[in-house]
Amino acid sequence: MSLITWSDQLSVGIEEIDQQHQKLVQLINGLHNHMLAGDAADIMNKVLDRVIEYTGFHFKTEEQLMLEYDYPDSATHKHEHNKLVDTAVDLQQKLKSGNAHITMETMHFLQDWLQHHILESDKKFAKYLSSKGLH
Ligand SMILES: [Fe+2]
Ligand SMILES: [Fe+2]
Repeated sequence: MSLITWSDQLSVGIEEIDQQHQKLVQLINGLHNHMLAGDAADIMNKVLDRVIEYTGFHFKTEEQLMLEYDYPDSATHKHEHNKLVDTAVDLQQKLKSGNAHITMETMHFLQDWLQHHILESDKKFAKYLSSKGLH
């Protein structure tokens, strides 16, 4: 069973952002599956690297749109992005040095963060973009 199930409830109504969120959901579900399978540290490292890389790409996409459309709440939104990146990079370093494992707690943290961020901050941002004519 997947950790996160995509539903219309998670859709923010901007196609590019929705597609990237779906991809992120897939990657986090993939990480969860590798964790459940008890895969070795080097595999977990690679999978987490990919999640972090794609997350960075996705945040850049949103932040570029914030600039382009002069989003008034960009500082708060970017701060949420940066906090997650800091936490994820910290985890990545601990994993690489053998000082941590990806646990169910890690997975629930990622799940909660993503769902909460999409439902609150990304929806608010998407509503703004829609009001500027982007779909
Ligand atoms: Fe965001
Ligand atoms: Fe997002």
